[in-house]
Amino acid sequence: MSVEAHAVITSAFPRWDRELLFEILNKIHDVVMVIDTDTTIIYANEAYARILGVPVAKVLGRRLDKIEPKAEAINVLRTGKAYQSGGDYLDSLGIDVVGSSFLLYYGKRIIGCVSIFKNITEVVELNRELQQTKGVAAYLKEQLEQWEQLPLSFKEYVGQNSRLKETLVLAAKVARTDSTVLILGESGVGKDVLARAMHSSSRRKDKPLIKVNCAAIPEDLIESELFGYEEGAFTGAKKGGKLGKFELAHSGTIFLDEIGDMSLTMQAKLLRVLQDKEFERVGGTKSIKVDIRVIAATNRDLESMIQKGTFRLDLYYRLNIVPLILTPLRERKDDILALSKTFLQRLSREVGRELILSPRVMSFFQEYNWPGNIRELQNVLEHASIVCSGVSIEIQHLPARIIPKTNERVKAKDKPYAVKEILAGVEKELILSALDTYHNNRTKAMKALGFSRRVFYDKLIRYGIH
Ligand SMILES: Nc1ncnc2c1ncn2[C@@H]1O[C@H](COP(=O)(O)OP(=O)(O)OP(=O)(O)O)[C@@H](O)[C@H]1O
Ligand SMILES: [Mg+2]
Repeated sequence: MSVEAHAVITSAFPRWDRELLFEILNKIHDVVMVIDTDTTIIYANEAYARILGVPVAKVLGRRLDKIEPKAEAINVLRTGKAYQSGGDYLDSLGIDVVGSSFLLYYGKRIIGCVSIFKNITEVVELNRELQQTKGVAAYLKEQLEQWEQLPLSFKEYVGQNSRLKETLVLAAKVARTDSTVLILGESGVGKDVLARAMHSSSRRKDKPLIKVNCAAIPEDLIESELFGYEEGAFTGAKKGGKLGKFELAHSGTIFLDEIGDMSLTMQAKLLRVLQDKEFERVGGTKSIKVDIRVIAATNRDLESMIQKGTFRLDLYYRLNIVPLILTPLRERKDDILALSKTFLQRLSREVGRELILSPRVMSFFQEYNWPGNIRELQNVLEHASIVCSGVSIEIQHLPARIIPKTNERVKAKDKPYAVKEILAGVEKELILSALDTYHNNRTKAMKALGFSRRVFYDKLIRYGIH
């Protein structure tokens, strides 16, 4: 300070008295708090009440080690470190703060500790939102790359069958609540579609819907996939850690698909999250709270799994609050034609001409028992749309594996030597069969078929295999 400035100040403030000092401290926007050696709070400025929401009179004379035993100031006092700065979480108030604490000396004697800090809860919250948004963006990008289906809403959900309608009415009703939902039904019956429709008609529709395919994640990765991990949690862990699916789904919906394929160890961990809506990241100690809606689905018979001891009864009770059972297609044959019509409309647009079912195919569809349900119907029609060169889809345009033996060979009556179409039909059949054999594991199917990744995915798109 210059000599002149010093002179001005000393003339304006002849005495640095207590009052003036306190006034200055009260002007500071950050909290200033002083404790003595037994951690009793002996001073707090006005910012204390404003920022922490607790009147100063209420804390003066109270011991900080009773209110906030993990506070940085206590640490500084106990360890005798002269100075400490950084972030802190105040358990008693549930807020994040950042600042510094330093020892207070009277001559050479330590007489207490001063802490100066500000509330950064909003910043921490914003950072959490930012991390979540980043995570969701990465997740959606990954989903797009996997050619995920676009969500269907209830309006687009095709089906007139009375049993299906009952399920849909119930589904639409619970969609509006936050209740846990369990969707049961055979493979290809529309569980994914229903889960998405429920999310998009819930109050969480603008928040993320995060799907976890419990069957597709290797056992040793599932915990970090679901709960995330902290930096350095294991070798190969990403710098800065990674958000798990539960954190990505915060304020939205988590869709736990193929829940029946989860190991017993993971079932126990999942149960805890469902009960407390709270968990820790792998390698972390801080409990993370999430606000999520859970939709689970499986094609497995959970009750018989419970009897065999492979599914936890308590988890089943937790999930089975509102069970939604999707009827297999063979038990709602009245929907087959409506579904076919919907799929044919899209396929007609794709092939550039109108496609219809011949009366024989219509009656065959009623007899066939559709083990692969709606997905199979969709695939059968896509196959037919490629093989059929006319308007009317005939029996011989259907995949060989489903048509009666006498029509075993895929031959178009009107074009018996249409090599390209016939080979395409056979190729698609082989791809579907390989996918079946390897339970939809695309990498394994691709290797078994001897295709490169690019060729294989080109073919999946060409044949409309999802
Ligand atoms: N009601 C419907 N209307 C139109 N398309 C549907 C309907 N239900 C299902 N689909 C279509 O059928 C296919 C299979 O549906 P989905 O993936 O939802 O079945 P899933 O029950 O989840 O099968 P999995 O058990 O194999 O996972 C999808 O391509 C979907 O678009
Ligand atoms: Mg599914």
